[in-house]
Amino acid sequence: MSAFDITGIRQDFPILGRSVRGRPLTYLDNAATSQKPSVVIKALERYYSEQNANVHRGVHLLSEEATTAYEAARASVAKFLGLKEARGCIFVRGATEGINLVAECWGRANLKAGDEILLTQLEHHANIVPWQVIAERTGAKVIVTPVTPRGEVDLVAFKGLLSARTKLVAFAHVSNALGTVNPAAEMTRLAQAAGALVLIDGCQSAAHFKVDVPALGCDFYAFSGHKTFGPTGIGVLWGRPELLDAMPPYQFGGDMIRKVDFAGTTFREAPERFEAGTPDISGAIALGVALEYVMPIQTAAHAHEQRLLAAATERLKAIKGLTIVGEATEKVAVISFNIVGGHPHDIGTLLDADGIAIRTGHHCCMPLMKHYGLSGTARASFAFYNTLEEVDRLADSLEKARKMMA
Ligand code: ALA
Repeated sequence: MSAFDITGIRQDFPILGRSVRGRPLTYLDNAATSQKPSVVIKALERYYSEQNANVHRGVHLLSEEATTAYEAARASVAKFLGLKEARGCIFVRGATEGINLVAECWGRANLKAGDEILLTQLEHHANIVPWQVIAERTGAKVIVTPVTPRGEVDLVAFKGLLSARTKLVAFAHVSNALGTVNPAAEMTRLAQAAGALVLIDGCQSAAHFKVDVPALGCDFYAFSGHKTFGPTGIGVLWGRPELLDAMPPYQFGGDMIRKVDFAGTTFREAPERFEAGTPDISGAIALGVALEYVMPIQTAAHAHEQRLLAAATERLKAIKGLTIVGEATEKVAVISFNIVGGHPHDIGTLLDADGIAIRTGHHCCMPLMKHYGLSGTARASFAFYNTLEEVDRLADSLEKARKMMA
């Protein structure tokens, strides 16, 4: 067995065995959502066949088992993020909900007119709009760090934009549209030196390399389960427990209260403080299983993906009229591109006819597209279960598409 047993790994993902339009599926839309290994699919089935009960409520065995499994999943999340304690890990629907939670709960309580929220030009809409809205409501201002033509955050500009007015800095660990890996630890250090809190959108990093939250030093980190080989509808917001405990909750109901009385109600600390109502128990358990699946192979998977990135970059660059958008020095295996004479949607449709799934359009990054003067790109995004043969299939199909569009 090779150091990275790609054949065995592919067999863990049942969907990879299907065909699309009479061709083997070539799934290169992993930045939109990842596929799920059998262990995750089975965990969902097992939960509903054997364990289904509400958590934190019953004294009966099923409820105890469900609670144990749910809290074990939280412990897996903490391990996945390099954390010693799981208390700051809140189960949410996804990174979008995690960011909205911080904007609403921390932002509403702490921002005021004259304060600044510093973002970057390469953010996903989910890390722009919640800040815009909370800025409108509080009188704070959103400031944007520009990116360089290569698609990297302009660090000199970033330093220049930080000031005593900066109360929060929010940025993507990895750009979903370009694959750029931001110097997250350095940006965090600079932001905190200016007195700001730091939120990192980890949606596109968690699936590609080991995330070490204590080493990053940030105050909040959010990621989505479905992009990390877990189910849809579950994700994680990690926050420093002392910050979370000081934030007013924004959803109220069962499990998050300490005492309810018509004279007044008191709330629990994190994580329950932000998990009102019955949570996505099966989703959390299955996410824990996904993370346990990924952790032992992370280093080898990253190396494999970097080989795919190098091979795909080389093959795509050789295609006449194809331009890669975003060529950062450090990237995950994501390639955004355009071909002269072809609309990204046409490229996507032609590739689909060959069983190849990519994403086309603005990738929920309209301000970034505006920076490049583009309406959109075609984007191939890889996971560790992709192969060099699939890189060839992509390049061959693109060559064919180019000729058809010419
Ligand atoms: N944010 C996801 C993507 O980049 C949906 O495709």
